Amino acid sequence: MTAQLNPRGDVAVLVPAAGSGTRLGPGAPKALRLLGGEPLLVHALRRICRAPSVAAVVVAAPPDEVAAVRAMLAAVAPVTVVAGGAHRQASVAAALAAVPADLPIVLVHDAARALAPPDLVESVAAAVRAGAEAVIPVLPVVDTIKEVGPDDAVRGTVDRSPLRAVQTPQGFRRQVLAAAHAAAVDPLTDDAGLVEKQGVRVTCVPGSEHALKITRPFDLLLAEHLLATE
Ligand code: CTP
Ligand code: MG
Repeated sequence: MTAQLNPRGDVAVLVPAAGSGTRLGPGAPKALRLLGGEPLLVHALRRICRAPSVAAVVVAAPPDEVAAVRAMLAAVAPVTVVAGGAHRQASVAAALAAVPADLPIVLVHDAARALAPPDLVESVAAAVRAGAEAVIPVLPVVDTIKEVGPDDAVRGTVDRSPLRAVQTPQGFRRQVLAAAHAAAVDPLTDDAGLVEKQGVRVTCVPGSEHALKITRPFDLLLAEHLLATE
């Protein structure tokens, strides 16, 4: 059944899904790889659409797959599909250009974080609605972190207590994200990084273990297990 988005919602979600999935190994573009028999992108969208604040979703698909992705998603949710770019930032910029003008809050969410729960979408959106200009979900770093030289020799041990691992969805006041992308010079792997360069304060909210990024084959196995126990 096709999900309904909330026409009274105040949030647009951009879903960069145009990556190839090199680290996952040979196969289809990552967002189209199957998890429990369905593409990662479909899992991600279903969860986004269950968040009541979401009024619009724009997916950046692999350029060769735009028509196929549009057809595939028509049965899942009423989303806009655009062609992604050569790197993630270009894909986000392409999706941002297609956001309806009246929505004040924009979230950016990796298709590769296919199991991020609707509650996480809501908590990031709520923090922006409450006044934050930029919001990221984070988890504490659990491993000991060392700095290592090119010769594999340890240079030092990093104090991990102020470190956080960053997830998506990342949330922004629309104008803040638009200005950061307009001013962007080098491609970065997260949008909050662009906003930081503009001197904007970025606020953290608690992340979710279920929002793990499916990057390597082990992550896909872990996600299969999480899906089976959801
Ligand atoms: N992404 C995108 N456009 C690109 C590159 C990445 O929209 N040109 C998206 C991916 O589809 C993914 C998210 O950005 O949903 C995070 O990227 P990553 O996990 O690195 O995915 P891939 O780039 O596909 O994987 P890899 O780096 O292993 O090739
Ligand atoms: Mg990548």
